[in-house]
Amino acid sequence: MTVDELIAPSDVETGTVFRAPRREDGAAISRLIGDCPPLDTNSTYAYLLLCEHFSQTCVVAVGESGEIDGFVSAYIPPQKPDVLFVWQVAVNERARGSRLAARMLHALVWRCAAKPIRYIETTVGPDNIASRKTFEAVALAAEAPIAETALFDATLLGDDAHEDERLLRIGPFDIDMLTPL
Ligand SMILES: CC(C)(COP(=O)(O)OP(=O)(O)OC[C@H]1O[C@@H](n2cnc3c(N)ncnc32)[C@H](O)[C@@H]1OP(=O)(O)O)[C@@H](O)C(=O)NCCC(=O)NCCS
Repeated sequence: MTVDELIAPSDVETGTVFRAPRREDGAAISRLIGDCPPLDTNSTYAYLLLCEHFSQTCVVAVGESGEIDGFVSAYIPPQKPDVLFVWQVAVNERARGSRLAARMLHALVWRCAAKPIRYIETTVGPDNIASRKTFEAVALAAEAPIAETALFDATLLGDDAHEDERLLRIGPFDIDMLTPL
């Protein structure tokens, strides 16, 4: 692994390595997303593009077995250079319960320390408690307020079964507050 790929020091206790995704991870990431409802599934090609073009703002957590236990996709919106927009967060069922999602988010922000990020934005369904608790914990660690507003209502998502996607905005914060957990 190159220094450029390694996002944060390995978790010594669990043996988890946080690193930037590579194109070879695309198919495994696609399967992980499929195994993590209620996340929307996308083509493997879409995940290959994330690995190829957005690896600097995405992270995979690789467990001791060498399998991908977690994934976060994120990007800096072109019109908002101070925002890290987090798209999908997934933790394999076998790895849940030890706040791996929050640890991935901390590792990712730590990796972005040279960038002028002062906000994290994400969308979250109204009933996704684990996801909400994850972002609340990040806001607490960043000592930053968290605001919730409407973003995409279910009709825009073109699917009767889809919940509204509400925007959570954490910040402003000092990026140095979010060190690896
Ligand atoms: C959301 C997700 C990534 C979190 O995984 P994780 O990091 O292993 O999360 P944990 O199991 O450690 O739970 C995080 C917090 O939520 C709480 N929690 C988890 N499931 C819960 C539930 N069903 N009800 C209430 N609280 C719950 C935990 O107790 C923990 O709280 P704490 O920090 O106060 O101890 C994972 O559940 C997942 O992949 N879900 C499916 C995909 C998804 O919904 N992604 C998020 C949308 S972008």
